[in-house]
Order: sequence, then C-alpha cells, then structure tokens
Amino acid sequence: MSIAVTLHLLAAVIWVGGMFFAHQMLRPVAATLLEPPLRQPLWVGVFGRFFPWVWVAVGTILATGYYMLFVVFNGMANVGLYVHIMHALGLTMVGIYLYVFFGPYQKLKRSVAAQIWPEGKGHIDRIRDMVGINMILGLITIAVAAGGRYLH
Ligand code: HEM
Repeated sequence: MSIAVTLHLLAAVIWVGGMFFAHQMLRPVAATLLEPPLRQPLWVGVFGRFFPWVWVAVGTILATGYYMLFVVFNGMANVGLYVHIMHALGLTMVGIYLYVFFGPYQKLKRSVAAQIWPEGKGHIDRIRDMVGINMILGLITIAVAAGGRYLH
C-alpha cells in the first residue's frame, strides 16, 4: 500500500503540476513573446516531451488506484465517498487527455508540419481549453483525495 500510494501521488504531481506550469506560466508568456511560426512549433515540442510522461502518469495512477481499490480495500463497497469522487474525476481526466492526444494534438502536429498557422491556432486553442479543464479537475481531485479522508 505504501509503495502504491507513493507512486499514485508522484504520478498525480507530475501530471497536474505539468499542466499547471504549461497553462499558467508558459502559455501566457509564449502568447505575448512569440509569433505563430515560433509559438506553434514550441508547443509541438513541449507536448512531445510532456505527453510521454502523461502516459506514464495515467498508467501509474490507474494501476495503483485500482490495486488499492480492489486488492487493498477489497472493492468499491469498502471505500469512502472521497474515493468514489476521485475515481469519477480521474476517469473524466483520462478521457479528456485521450481526446486531446488523439484529436487536436495530432491535428496540430499536421498543421505545424504544413505551416498552416491559422489552422494550428484553432487546435492550440482547443488544447488550451481542455488542458485548463483537466488542470482544474486535477486540483479538485487532489483536494478531495487528500482532504476527504478526514471528513466523516
Ligand atoms: C482513476 C482512478 C483512481 C482510482 C481508482 C484511485 C484510487 C485511490 C485510492 C484507493 C486511494 C487510497 C485512499 C486511502 O488511502 O484512503 C487513492 C489515494 C489518492 N489519490 Fe487516487 N485514484 C484514482 C485517480 C486519482 C487521480 C486522477 C488523482 C489526482 C489527480 C488522485 C489523487 C490521489 C491522492 C492525492 C491520494 C492520496 C490521498 C492520501 O493518502 O492522503 N487519484 N486513490
């Protein structure tokens, strides 16, 4: 259990912390300083380095989460409401990530390779909105997961 919860937490920190940095720090500065022919390849490069870590984080969170749920706690009936909320929010986050990765991110790579900047902007805007939603869901999930166990 101690190894599982530690890996679970490290994965959540990498995923949610990465989204927070990209959305709150890098995005506004890149939008102010860089024109689309530089900004869009920057994002393709940043996502190309971040998303492999997100795959690892998602795999780790699901594997350790379900291990704790079904092996340590012996099923859904034995856990508090906060774990059910974490589970529902976590699966929503994974769904949003899969949509971003297989949808707008693939399209962004294609439009940047073809240097069609107005098209790329649409895909980046979509990714920005989705990552913004996932970042907020991630922060709520962590708050519920960490604080929820003390609510009785
Ligand atoms: C999607 C499926 C998920 C499942 C099945 C799951 C399951 C669990 C379980 C069973 C625990 C242990 C609860 C306890 O010790 O009382 C836990 C802890 C935790 N989970 Fe999840 N989780 C999931 C997703 C997530 C996500 C997406 C995040 C954050 C973005 C997250 C953040 C946490 C945190 C911060 C803890 C530690 C709570 C603490 O020990 O103080 N979980 N999770």
